[in-house]
Amino acid sequence: MLKDLTSMVLRHTRPSRRHLTPELILRLITPECPLWNATEDQLPFKDPFWGFYWPGGQATARYILDNGEIVKNRQILDLGCGCGAGAIAAAKMCAKRVLANDIDSYAVTATQINAKLNEASVKTSTNNIIGNNNIDFDTILVGDMFYDEEFANFLFQWLRRLASEGKAVLIGDPGRHGLTAKHHQHISLLATYKLPEDSCLENRGFSDTTLWMVNS
Ligand SMILES: C[S@@+](CC[C@H](N)C(=O)[O-])C[C@H]1O[C@@H](n2cnc3c(N)ncnc32)[C@H](O)[C@@H]1O
Repeated sequence: MLKDLTSMVLRHTRPSRRHLTPELILRLITPECPLWNATEDQLPFKDPFWGFYWPGGQATARYILDNGEIVKNRQILDLGCGCGAGAIAAAKMCAKRVLANDIDSYAVTATQINAKLNEASVKTSTNNIIGNNNIDFDTILVGDMFYDEEFANFLFQWLRRLASEGKAVLIGDPGRHGLTAKHHQHISLLATYKLPEDSCLENRGFSDTTLWMVNS
């Protein structure tokens, strides 16, 4: 089964550095891949979010690579890891322990492949942990998970609880509708980045991406 997932990810992606963190090489669905122009019914996967490096994830990984002290010797959870870039950036910047979590088995497979490509030590899990009480990590990375308002509200409530317990909660987001003005009262801006041209093409409408920290 794992072998099947791995060969599917390898077959449908290409290595790419055309993003905000070119020091990381990531297997992604690029314009050179047949799937790039595929319609939904031609896709062999349901929603291959892991095949793209989302603007929110790019902001998260860029910030970590430029400000390594935020993860050094810390225990990091990359929630909704997708291609795994946030987790990989944290591992590269000397985090003590890194868990990349995603409910999509293809995402954790892509993360394992990408971690190996970048010689980064990252563990993975597919459990749905949002809302759990015992989160044994001191930094939580959330890249681009505010695309659905109802889910965003539930997620944000939990992230605020984790922040109030003293955990550092970082949210990468290009301005999606789920991160509303109400949420903005509880987050502080850490950085804004211009997206590279390829990422703008992929994300029509977004030219910038930002990193926020949830207030404690
Ligand atoms: C838009 S993608 C972002 C991926 C990555 N963080 C990035 O920025 O490139 C959102 C990811 O969240 C994952 N996801 C959705 N619900 C989740 C949940 N309850 N727990 C963990 N991951 C989840 C999806 O499978 C998907 O990989």
